[in-house]
Amino acid sequence: MSLWNKHAIFEKNSIVLVVGILLVVAIGGLVEIAPLFYLKSTIETVDGVRPYTPLELAGRNIYVREGCYLCHSQMIRSLRDEVERYGHYSLAAESKYDHPFQWGSKRTGPDLARVGGKYSDDWQRGHLTNPRSVVPGSVMPRYGFLAESALDYKHIQEDMSVLALEGVPYTPEMIAKADADIKAQLNPDDPSAADLAKRYPKAVAHASLGGDIGVTEQDALVAYLQMLGTTVDFKLYNDKADLR
Ligand code: HEC
Repeated sequence: MSLWNKHAIFEKNSIVLVVGILLVVAIGGLVEIAPLFYLKSTIETVDGVRPYTPLELAGRNIYVREGCYLCHSQMIRSLRDEVERYGHYSLAAESKYDHPFQWGSKRTGPDLARVGGKYSDDWQRGHLTNPRSVVPGSVMPRYGFLAESALDYKHIQEDMSVLALEGVPYTPEMIAKADADIKAQLNPDDPSAADLAKRYPKAVAHASLGGDIGVTEQDALVAYLQMLGTTVDFKLYNDKADLR
């Protein structure tokens, strides 16, 4: 019996067949996946990508807490319909500081990867409070309570320290100034607002509408939504060239 007839062993014994399949698939997987952890080009460095400001990070935590990802993705695929609707397809580098990432696979609502700056802060607030007030027929739930809940950011420094452990380039200075940076981003007249812009280029100031409550969860969420997709200058890239 030549070597090539030995496949009968696999064909007659399902356990051996399953083990054989697993082995072959594992080798294929290793060859495809393992190099990605070592190749520098897996995540290209892209100018403009920066860690979230403490306020944006707090807003992102609200986004995750409320499960917005159950209806919204944050990843634009490189297909013409997506690029024409949402903008330049997402780059790996754009979510490299996201732990956990929010790519998502469910779009009951539109992709939010580039929603930053698409609407005014007022629109975002009105929409969160009652989506039907600006988009009749919307099935998005109301999140009005966010405007009445004080933002709990006493753990923001711990959040940033853990992210730093995971590889997000938060410096000790950024972590130390987290509280001041939250206040500065909500008050452009704050003397430390210029410092904030130095630490986090393109950070946009927002109004705080909490009044007596102080900083609200809505303030933070709006700051997060308004920065999504705004840090990279896509005029530098030729969008349409490598579209499938
Ligand atoms: C049950 C599904 C659902 C959930 C949960 C949900 N949304 Fe939506 N969202 C939608 C739908 C549908 C639309 C499109 C209609 C509209 O604009 O209201 C939308 C639209 C939006 C838009 C406008 C996007 C655009 O480009 O016009 C934003 C911003 C948004 N949602 C943010 C959020 C945030 C933040 C949360 C979590 C606090 C959230 N959504 C939770 C369904 C949802």
